Amino acid sequence: MTAPKAGKSRVLSGMQPSGLLHLGNWLGALENWKELQEQHECFFFVADWHALSTNYADTSRIKEFNREMLTDWLAAGIDPNRSTVFIQSRIPEHAILHLLLAMIVPIPWLERNPTYKEKQEEIKEKDLSTYGFLGYPVLQAADILLYKPDYVPVGKDQLPHLELTREIARRFNSLYRPVFPEPKEHLTKFPKVIGTDGRKMSKSYGNTINLSDAEPVVRQKLKTMVTDPARVKRTDKGNPDICPVYDFHKIFSSAHTIEQVNRDCRTAGIGCIDCKKLVADGMVARMAPIWEGRARLTAKPSQVEEIVHEGSRRATAVAHRTLEEVNDAMQI
Ligand code: TRP
Ligand code: SF4
Repeated sequence: MTAPKAGKSRVLSGMQPSGLLHLGNWLGALENWKELQEQHECFFFVADWHALSTNYADTSRIKEFNREMLTDWLAAGIDPNRSTVFIQSRIPEHAILHLLLAMIVPIPWLERNPTYKEKQEEIKEKDLSTYGFLGYPVLQAADILLYKPDYVPVGKDQLPHLELTREIARRFNSLYRPVFPEPKEHLTKFPKVIGTDGRKMSKSYGNTINLSDAEPVVRQKLKTMVTDPARVKRTDKGNPDICPVYDFHKIFSSAHTIEQVNRDCRTAGIGCIDCKKLVADGMVARMAPIWEGRARLTAKPSQVEEIVHEGSRRATAVAHRTLEEVNDAMQI
């Protein structure tokens, strides 16, 4: 894994607005972004055009999802004074560079992209035999290359797209002249966050705890969360190492509580109901500032709009300059 070196690097990342953010997105991506913005020049954007690639048939909730996502980011600590926060569809340069890159990208590069086939298998109910869906990584390459970032923080699943971005940059640079530096990935530290059913937390499994869930909802979801299946009766001994509730303890509880649960679960000294209550307390304490932030921002929608407006202005300045270089290199 590459970590940004000391000193100011440029960092860019995006997220597709496909619904409400859950704990997995928060811990996996946002906590990482938050740390990066302390030291680096960061650009974070909502990839709403990317959401179209799978949701083109129903576009009714795109604006709502954009604003929910921005609210979650800001509430979770993305600081618009440090980071440039914007929405992809407000920067036409993304679409223009996408078009120009499309001219030089061989179709087989896209057809052998592993996420292309995987997603098509996974989302059988939609017709994804579209031009836009195949070109998803070209749009992503345009998103990235416009800002010439040193690092792109992403999850493991995005590595093929980043590799493709570098291949596209190399092809452009060798066809015309060197314009694009090759961006490096910055993998998120958090591995996967487990959902309430014991599988990876994912919207498509319906096992998420969302940042927008109110306290009673969070507590209720934890109550029904799976535990070590060996603990049927209160007196059955358990193994925290195979229990997803214990995974949450490791994230949200104090060292003392983690230690205590680890010991008492094995001897049936603690029951799952009490154990879950402990984890809920830790989780609620960590989520409370996010809930407050969400409430504040929801009460003042104009504030989110101002932030995005200013972010889009700053992003446009950079994107515009790169596009000029591109046009110049291509003699357009
Ligand atoms: N494909 C990314 C995802 O699904 C979202 C994305 C779009 C992105 N453009 C990007 C991520 C540019 C990083 C950089 O998570
Ligand atoms: Fe899991 Fe806690 Fe129950 Fe042990 S006591 S099985 S760690 S919920």
